[in-house]
Amino acid sequence: MSDTFFDRFGGAEAFSTMVRGFYDAIAEDELIRPMYPDADLGPAEDRLRWFLEQYWGGPKTYSEQRGHPRLRMRHAEFPITPEARDKWLDHMRKAVDSIRLSPELDEELWEYLVDAAYAMVNTPGPDSGRWAT
Ligand code: HEM
Repeated sequence: MSDTFFDRFGGAEAFSTMVRGFYDAIAEDELIRPMYPDADLGPAEDRLRWFLEQYWGGPKTYSEQRGHPRLRMRHAEFPITPEARDKWLDHMRKAVDSIRLSPELDEELWEYLVDAAYAMVNTPGPDSGRWAT
């Protein structure tokens, strides 16, 4: 079949549930929440949802609204330490759990998210003289 991953993950409803749950957790996160410039997390939630939907073969709203993703560059202004990455991933893990994917689909999505989160680190942690390994 020619279903995209977007379809197989559960389409717009699944992405919406996942990203909403993730941002509910970000709103309470004392390390990551202060990095967000805006008081209202709603627009940031939209951007992450659009990006993930597009990445997995869904609607191209992200590019229409934001242009080329260049995500590492867009994150350069935020001090993303290994600790922030791990907290981001903890919140995302719970959000992914909430949409109850098959083990195969879960693995596909999760490997991508872990790789992407590791790639976004741009600031060494307090105890990481060896962070380049
Ligand atoms: C590793 C820890 C991460 C932290 C602390 C973090 C933090 C942030 C912050 C503070 C923003 C700005 C909020 C805004 O849009 O106004 C942002 C934007 C964004 N982040 Fe992350 N992020 C992380 C990882 C990721 C990953 C792994 C992805 C993708 C898989 C991602 C996707 C995005 C997207 C799509 C935007 C909006 C970019 C735009 O169009 O301006 N982030 N992130």
